[in-house]
Amino acid sequence: MTHPAMRILSTIALAALALVLLVAACGGGTSTSPAAVAAGEKVYQQTCATCHGRDAKGLPNLGRSLQANEFVADHRDGELVAFLMEGRRATDPLNTTGIDMPPRGGNPMLTQADMEHVVAFLRTLQ
Ligand code: HEC
Repeated sequence: MTHPAMRILSTIALAALALVLLVAACGGGTSTSPAAVAAGEKVYQQTCATCHGRDAKGLPNLGRSLQANEFVADHRDGELVAFLMEGRRATDPLNTTGIDMPPRGGNPMLTQADMEHVVAFLRTLQ
């Protein structure tokens, strides 16, 4: 027979473990942390601003405005990251301007994590 005190102790231990896991799960989503946003802004200014403008309001005959952008608002973080990894070529039937949106903003050195940070930054412009 297990002593009742042991049962209470193991219940407390399980509850503590559940709490730790919950906190880890919440804190693990670094995509919207201030550090992610700052890293994303840096990538944005170095790579994306060339076409979308330093203020993200778009540039004539280059990228369109990413401020209050419907496409950004309508897609989840993961979908936006996938979009940025692929880009949207001028030949893509979904392209609306006839201008290339290059994969990773045209910088093949950028990683998926960089794109996740950029998405965190784009969310702050909506
Ligand atoms: C060489 C120019 C260029 C660069 C660099 C560039 N873009 Fe674009 N981007 C475009 C163009 C052009 C479009 C519009 C494509 C179309 O006509 O559908 C676009 C579209 C987008 C869209 C979709 C907007 C919409 O309303 O459909 C997002 C989001 C976006 N770009 C984000 C980025 C990010 C983030 C970066 C940097 C990693 C970046 N772009 C770099 C040219 C560029």
